[in-house]
Amino acid sequence: MSDSEDEGTPRLSPHALAALQEFYAEQKQRTDSGGEDKYSIGIIEENWQLSQFWYNQETALRLAEEAVAAAGEGGRIACVSAPSVYQRLRQRRGDHCSVCLFEYDRRFAVYGEEFIFYDYNLPLELPEWVAAHSFDIVIADPPYLSEECLRKTAETIKYLTRGKILLCTGAIMEEEAARLLGVKLCEFVPKHTRTLGNEFRCYVNYASGLDREL
Ligand SMILES: C[S@@+](CC[C@H](N)C(=O)[O-])C[C@H]1O[C@@H](n2cnc3c(N)ncnc32)[C@H](O)[C@@H]1O
Repeated sequence: MSDSEDEGTPRLSPHALAALQEFYAEQKQRTDSGGEDKYSIGIIEENWQLSQFWYNQETALRLAEEAVAAAGEGGRIACVSAPSVYQRLRQRRGDHCSVCLFEYDRRFAVYGEEFIFYDYNLPLELPEWVAAHSFDIVIADPPYLSEECLRKTAETIKYLTRGKILLCTGAIMEEEAARLLGVKLCEFVPKHTRTLGNEFRCYVNYASGLDREL
């Protein structure tokens, strides 16, 4: 190309180029999933046999933002039985966190290596490469409101976390949660796409943003 041709070619600013690349990446994501974003909450339908109740958009976003803030730049986030938070994290652009989804429902294996099969009944049966205390924050929403389920899930949480824990479970689990994980009730109240019979709450063991209204 001659100098004159080069001068005549419109150039994009780095900012415009980055926006264009982001647009193409989003387009590709939609195309790869047959037109819909494969990380949309609800794209994998609730299966009530597996105690699946998805958060609404606002809650998933608030929890995803909290996880990123708590993990810090380049941090590692584990979503344990909380696929909507994983999906919301993956829909966000510009985060530099790495995220893993520990989940029993193998439909979520569509997310490739970030999906790790997990059964709370076997709390420490995890792939060898999942090192102890290798996640900056663990966010967990166990499938059942029972002491046994929370106790076993707590084993996994304590194995995975470097310290921070964000637990979502029933209001009736407050005492067990405090005993097993040292977490305290937050002001923020999580909401689901459906009205549930049990009141759900969030619990943390660090100074989180979930005690402030936005
Ligand atoms: C109450 S839902 C929490 C989902 C969360 N509200 C969300 O929107 O991401 C319980 C989760 O536990 C998962 N689950 C069901 N059986 C499980 C098992 N045996 N071990 C681990 N997780 C299980 C379900 O697939 C579901 O994702």
